[in-house]
Amino acid sequence: MDERLRIEFNDWAKAGRGEGMEKGHRPVGEQAIDLMNISADARVLDIGCGSGWAARLMAEKTHEGHVVGIDISDEMVRLAGETSKSFPNIEFRVASAERLPFSDDEFSRAFSMESLYYYADMLGALKEIRRVLQPGGVFVTVVDLYQENRPSHQWIDQLNVPVQLLSSGQYRSLFAQAGFVNVRDQRLYDPRPLPDDYSGGSFETREDYLEYRKSGSLVVRGEGAK
Ligand SMILES: C[S@@+](CC[C@H](N)C(=O)[O-])C[C@H]1O[C@@H](n2cnc3c(N)ncnc32)[C@H](O)[C@@H]1O
Repeated sequence: MDERLRIEFNDWAKAGRGEGMEKGHRPVGEQAIDLMNISADARVLDIGCGSGWAARLMAEKTHEGHVVGIDISDEMVRLAGETSKSFPNIEFRVASAERLPFSDDEFSRAFSMESLYYYADMLGALKEIRRVLQPGGVFVTVVDLYQENRPSHQWIDQLNVPVQLLSSGQYRSLFAQAGFVNVRDQRLYDPRPLPDDYSGGSFETREDYLEYRKSGSLVVRGEGAK
């Protein structure tokens, strides 16, 4: 399974979709990162970091700390490293979310955007994230493909790899099972103006796209505990 994801996202990286995701995800990603209150000395993990745009954003906030981005795709990690050369406090590594190569309590913040639903063992990955997050540390994830966002279900057939379609309640429950405390969810919205016509390709009709935007992005937040 990991190999299938690696190959698929290597293709995405080679096709320029890493940069494309920055454009698409950043308007909501920035708001989600603001919710994390990243301090100047924070130790931050970005899980499924893609092209590394979020890691760079977080590295600007934690100039006395550091950010590590991990991704299953070696091409994404290569792209992220190449575009982050001017950041002395970022490191990117090839790793699976289900087996994080870090010690317990190593990070004070963790972030993951549009990555969790690809994991075959999401609960295992959440347990790993909680393990490497210090007690009281904060993990924030953003997902656009979820049960309550009906048009997003169209992606399930478009994607070449299997995904998990969960509701906000199921996400909260998995967070709790993984040992996170103070688990909350909320929606965040892309502030960009809605287009008069739609030719994006991710949705069948403009109405679907408008409903997708109206549903917003699901943000789930939990705190590490011992
Ligand atoms: C839709 S992209 C999002 C990338 C980035 N977070 C962004 O918002 O632009 C999903 C990313 O998750 C990574 N990924 C998928 N399964 C993974 C796993 N099991 N462990 C680590 N990364 C994974 C993919 O390689 C890909 O880069």
